[in-house]
Amino acid sequence: MTHEAGWAHAPGALRGPAWLSAPADVNALVPQLWSSTAHKRDGDLVVGGIAVADVVAEHTTPAYVLDEEDFRGRARAFRDAFEGWDVYYAGKAFLCTEVARWVADEGLHLDVCSGGELTVALRAGVDPRLIGYHGNNKTVAELRRAVALGVGRIIVDSLTEVERLEMITRDTGLTARVMVRVTAGVEAHTHEYIATAHEDQKFGLSITSGDALEAVRRLAAAPGIELLGLHSHIGSQIFDAAGFEVAARRVLGLHARVADELGVTMPEMDLGGGFGIAYTTQDDPSTPAALAEAMRAIVAHECRALGIEQPRFSIEPGRAIVGPSMCTVYTVGTVKPVTLDAGAVRTYVSVDGGMSDNIRTALYDADYSCTLAARDSDAPALLARVVGKHCEAGDIVVRDEFLPADVAPGDLLAVPGTGAYCRSMASNYNHALRPPVIAVRDGVARVVVRRETEDDLLATDVG
Ligand code: LLP
Repeated sequence: MTHEAGWAHAPGALRGPAWLSAPADVNALVPQLWSSTAHKRDGDLVVGGIAVADVVAEHTTPAYVLDEEDFRGRARAFRDAFEGWDVYYAGKAFLCTEVARWVADEGLHLDVCSGGELTVALRAGVDPRLIGYHGNNKTVAELRRAVALGVGRIIVDSLTEVERLEMITRDTGLTARVMVRVTAGVEAHTHEYIATAHEDQKFGLSITSGDALEAVRRLAAAPGIELLGLHSHIGSQIFDAAGFEVAARRVLGLHARVADELGVTMPEMDLGGGFGIAYTTQDDPSTPAALAEAMRAIVAHECRALGIEQPRFSIEPGRAIVGPSMCTVYTVGTVKPVTLDAGAVRTYVSVDGGMSDNIRTALYDADYSCTLAARDSDAPALLARVVGKHCEAGDIVVRDEFLPADVAPGDLLAVPGTGAYCRSMASNYNHALRPPVIAVRDGVARVVVRRETEDDLLATDVG
């Protein structure tokens, strides 16, 4: 039976997770989840000075809306807070030529982790010397290309890669500038799939096993190789500075040992990215200024304790720059109340995208939030689950969120915080067309990545 006030008021209504309570105003934005220019105006979600309803009236849904001022502001905030350090934007979070240009404009360097990302950076005109090149399985061809281009730093991830670089520099007479990715043996408090500094995973060379020191010894001795320093990345979506502290201590310990035992003072050190952002009211991220203060204190303390000069440090934030800069705008297609065993009702709100444009909910149990983007509602708050249109029960976009109980087909729904690892991990599952990225600024919307077409899908189908 339907209660006149909506499903949420029916007997046995679902409560949702303990942390989620019905908002005082279901139309209001939770500001810390949204890009800096986002606000509501008479029910319209406005980003970059333009109503997203107007953006999608022209470009349709689903669409990623990218707030240029917000992106640039976050890039600048990291650059300024970490003055004296180098900030590499981690392009894996999201990269296109336009964004690569913004990164360079704002004085950041760029971290790429594949030949494809390198190509995008070069197409954007990024100076190869400002590029760091990651990857746990770079091929000989990829390494040759990076060395020939004069990439600023190649981050070596295995002893096999050491051999490949020895060979390439010997053959070509060129110099490779390298760092060594080490695992500090830290279990960062994040999802297992995005924790990268404990020992039992594929990245880096272990400090404890001696592999890291062995790589350093060989690279330091190779004539065509300029060894810049050590690199550590402990994982992603991390809020707790304790992991960075332990990692910095261990990596600086190795750095000091290399100076003692090999007589090699490496000039640089990279402490990776991984700084968390707010996806829901439960997340409380640090500002770049607070992070910088904490990290400067950590490295100063460790260097003093070891009696060594500080190398030049760098970091690689991806998510913390682009994550909050984008939201995804969908159109609601169906609203389906489903009666569960206990008699409670869950309302499934289906949108015109899903796991093909945001795999993070399914892959990492990530939580998101959402809001109606083109109207205010007086209806009471209803606990809903926003799902996509894919042939998969796990195709969930927002597991639990309060929406107005009159949410209906045709409504626009916007999900904040989708800038990082959503478009970049998007797929064509079920032959979905990957959505466009539309940059908004000063009331103007500009497509920076266009929507795929069915011709794009068929372009690779040569049968
Ligand atoms: N540096 C290195 C060496 C990395 O491997 C990563 C991320 C970063 C920097 C940037 O981390 P961020 O600041 O963006 O957290 N797909 C997962 C995240 C994978 C992160 C991979 N590496 C997700 O959606 O949560």
